Amino acid sequence: MRHLMSPLDLSVEELDKLLTLANDIEKNPGKYAHACEGKKLATCFYEPSTRTRLSFESAMINLGGSVIGFSSADSSSAAKGESVSDTIRVISCFADICAMRHPKEGAPLVASQHSSIPVINAGDGGHQHPTQTLTDLLTIRSLKGRLDHLKIGLCGDLKFGRTVHSLINALIRYPGIEFVLISPNELRVPEYIREDVLIANHIPFVEVERLEDAIPDLDILYMTRVQKERFFNEEDYIRMKDFYILDKAKMELAKKDMLVLHPLPRVNEISVEVDNDPRAVYFKQVQYGVYVRMALILTLLEIEV
Ligand code: CP
Repeated sequence: MRHLMSPLDLSVEELDKLLTLANDIEKNPGKYAHACEGKKLATCFYEPSTRTRLSFESAMINLGGSVIGFSSADSSSAAKGESVSDTIRVISCFADICAMRHPKEGAPLVASQHSSIPVINAGDGGHQHPTQTLTDLLTIRSLKGRLDHLKIGLCGDLKFGRTVHSLINALIRYPGIEFVLISPNELRVPEYIREDVLIANHIPFVEVERLEDAIPDLDILYMTRVQKERFFNEEDYIRMKDFYILDKAKMELAKKDMLVLHPLPRVNEISVEVDNDPRAVYFKQVQYGVYVRMALILTLLEIEV
């Protein structure tokens, strides 16, 4: 039985197979419509979500399966003090696979250690968000045609942004990847990402503060939200929250084929005037998230169609 805690739980070959399966699901949805009949997905979300929870649910329904779950800690027995390890033992009696989001780093890992069904990390604190990464990789590969030889700008909250941490970990496995890390000094990538991931693997990167300086050379611009929920101090959040706003003027500095991705939700960091630019693909990205989660459910349940 396999779980997914980090994108690195899948080898590059497995990832390639999964993304190819997701593309086939996109082209031939009817072929997969009954693949999970009789199977149940549990979505155990201890933290708010729109995309991840509903795209998992949509994915399982598209595969002919059913969905159970809870969407906040308050509506589960966590509110009475039940541990994650006890909860997953119980969920294992009800469902065939579980997607779990939790505000504490490592909680889905603890669940996986006590589970008799596959557990998928649907986001743990500021740590990892592997299924967002699968979504991002599928979006880039489908729209750019490759995952190698790309200059990728990661912009915004690189300190707490778990989608950024997972994406860096996944992309360094491809040749010719360079990063431009665009953030205010206070929100730079954590030292363990800079030292143990980028420097240790000899990945070219620069850290800059101004988006305008970085944007002309980028193949991909990955915008992120400054996450209010990760700040201890409201004043710091207010000071940082509008540090970056991608607007039409900045898009004019970018390459004609640069893609703008964002894991969403967006607050102010991308002006709505950018939404109609063909390079803005963050809503297409959401749709890719359903296909890739369908592919992941099939892979972890070892269902071949
Ligand atoms: N991208 C993402 O994780 O969105 P949600 O928080 O809405 O799930």
